Amino acid sequence: MLKISNVETFYGKIQALRGVDIDVNDGEIVSLIGSNGAGKSTLLMTISGVNKARNGNITFNGERIENRDPHKIVDLGICQVPEGRRIFSRLTVEENLRLGAYTNELGKHFETDIKEVYDLFPVLSDRKTQRGGTLSGGEQQMLAIGRALMSKPKVLLLDEPSLGIAPKLVNQIFASIKNINRDKNVTIFLVEQNAKKALELADRAYVLVNGKVTIMGSGQDLLKNKDIQAAYLEGGTKN
Ligand SMILES: Nc1ncnc2c1ncn2[C@@H]1O[C@H](COP(=O)(O)OP(=O)(O)OP(=O)(O)O)[C@@H](O)[C@H]1O
Ligand SMILES: [Mg+2]
Repeated sequence: MLKISNVETFYGKIQALRGVDIDVNDGEIVSLIGSNGAGKSTLLMTISGVNKARNGNITFNGERIENRDPHKIVDLGICQVPEGRRIFSRLTVEENLRLGAYTNELGKHFETDIKEVYDLFPVLSDRKTQRGGTLSGGEQQMLAIGRALMSKPKVLLLDEPSLGIAPKLVNQIFASIKNINRDKNVTIFLVEQNAKKALELADRAYVLVNGKVTIMGSGQDLLKNKDIQAAYLEGGTKN
């Protein structure tokens, strides 16, 4: 479905991605783990067309998409939930969700789409007239995911949804990601520093170190991998 081949991305002279190869198949949850500065966000930004790939290619259902306009990539059904959530803090919950639908002609199904988001995250329904900026971190993350769902994506790119969020809400958010994948048939590409959670959730996973994939395998195999345990799993959230 989504195929990333030998992608290299630079910031000026600094090379952030050094030939990344990753496949995400239809219906899968694929996780990418890696520590600070490994290049995870750069990869998602490259898929969504915000960063430009200097070399390599990215295909979506066989169609080349690297370096296309970001809004065209959203139109194809690839939607990113950026790191740090980036909701509109002065707008209400419902106005934020409305903006997600704006990118899609399916906006005409707004009422049913928004109901699906409220069913998934009931807390957002309780707070629909509250300003986004007054939500807790976890609630803002739910709003950011809900907003992305309003564009009816085929693939959801999630950048560290657990970052800075209380453990209880992290569990709830990961459960809802599984739900989105299974019940709504949305393919998930998840980037995380929280390796344990990301590997538990994943069908398959990749490890990114310094702009290169070093290990790949099933989520379960990677959880048992000694090198991964030493580097990413022992001591809880240590990287
Ligand atoms: N706008 C930028 N200009 C220059 N260098 C950048 C820029 N954004 C990222 N980088 C560099 O590219 C490398 C990869 O950064 P990136 O943000 O992709 O890492 P990450 O894996 O998402 O890290 P984190 O887990 O901290 O979010 C880092 O060395 C970073 O300093
Ligand atoms: Mg990042």
